[in-house]
Amino acid sequence: MNIIIVGFGTVGQSLAQLLAGYRGFLKKAYGMVVKVVAIVDSKGAAISQRGLDLSLVVRYKREHGTVAKVPSIGSEMNALEVARSVEADVLIEASPTNLMDGEPAMTHIINALRLGLNVVTVNKGPLALAMPMLKEMAEHRKLALKFSGTVGGGLPVLAFAKECTKGDRVVKVEGVLNGTTNYILTRMEDGLRFEEALAEAQEKGYAERDPTLDISGMDTACKLVILANEVLGKRVTLRDVRIEGITGIKPEDIRMARSAEKAVRLIGVAEESGVFVKPLTVDQSDPLAVKYTYNAVTLTLENSGRHTITGKGAGGRETATAIIRDLISIKERIVRV
Ligand SMILES: NC(=O)c1ccc[n+]([C@@H]2O[C@H](COP(=O)([O-])OP(=O)(O)OC[C@H]3O[C@@H](n4cnc5c(N)ncnc54)[C@H](OP(=O)(O)O)[C@@H]3O)[C@@H](O)[C@H]2O)c1
Repeated sequence: MNIIIVGFGTVGQSLAQLLAGYRGFLKKAYGMVVKVVAIVDSKGAAISQRGLDLSLVVRYKREHGTVAKVPSIGSEMNALEVARSVEADVLIEASPTNLMDGEPAMTHIINALRLGLNVVTVNKGPLALAMPMLKEMAEHRKLALKFSGTVGGGLPVLAFAKECTKGDRVVKVEGVLNGTTNYILTRMEDGLRFEEALAEAQEKGYAERDPTLDISGMDTACKLVILANEVLGKRVTLRDVRIEGITGIKPEDIRMARSAEKAVRLIGVAEESGVFVKPLTVDQSDPLAVKYTYNAVTLTLENSGRHTITGKGAGGRETATAIIRDLISIKERIVRV
């Protein structure tokens, strides 16, 4: 399987390292041989139809800031030019999230599908803005569009929701989907004020310098859109989600919840009657009352009730494993066709 990696930051580099280290394992366990034929960042690309030396490309990226500097295989081509010029089966989209227009990832995904490439994206922007259209485009062309890493990082939320619920109907999805806000709320339970908990989250690298997307509830809403489309079959985008973040949460709210043996969590809810994100009070014993940077997703099934999956929701290496999971399912699909 020949792949192009677009975006070579935390996730892209973790993927390259995992692929290099897992070569033998992937071949033995899944009969899968992955050849990375191109890697693209914002300044250029490294290209080799015979397969890149991944350790070398990572080293050049770290030392020189761009993959375009790798001797003899570095180039100033952008993602579209690369996709047109190499033979590949899959394009992996790992560029930064943009919720205004989804770019540059939106164009990367659309062009890849037009060129007949399967797509794996960890970038939730294009899906939050146009998931029904992108899914239709891929289906129409009989190509795969996979996005395991967009919800829960390495936590196999979508596989759990799709595979483990067969034979029953999912009627509701509830999720703590943003580690930064969950960290802040948990630290407020420990007595910190909102600003102190946010500063600590930034210090520890859990929150971006600009934490707006997290604390406004937008990041949770994006993930909820993906879950609502994929698990409940709803045709929704970000515009359909009612969103309330955590900036209005006061220490008194947390204290009151605690004294009633409850906890405040930022929860995304998707069900027949609507899709919304807001801080909700749950029992401390509820599986959604996860702490610190953990994520949790609870599915309510028509016959068998509530089931929850929890785990660490982000991280480069964790998210890279989700990409590998998607590549394995694309490989199985290619073999079937
Ligand atoms: N990090 C996580 O834990 C995590 C978890 C789940 C999902 N995600 C998602 O995964 C994506 C990547 O995250 P990250 O943490 O790896 O981000 P990152 O470290 O900021 O890396 C982004 C990469 O995209 C490249 N890029 C920017 N514009 C580009 C363009 N026009 N063409 C090609 N490449 C371009 C950047 O190039 P330069 O290196 O030249 O600047 C950089 O290599 C994001 O959408 C993020 O939301 C991340």
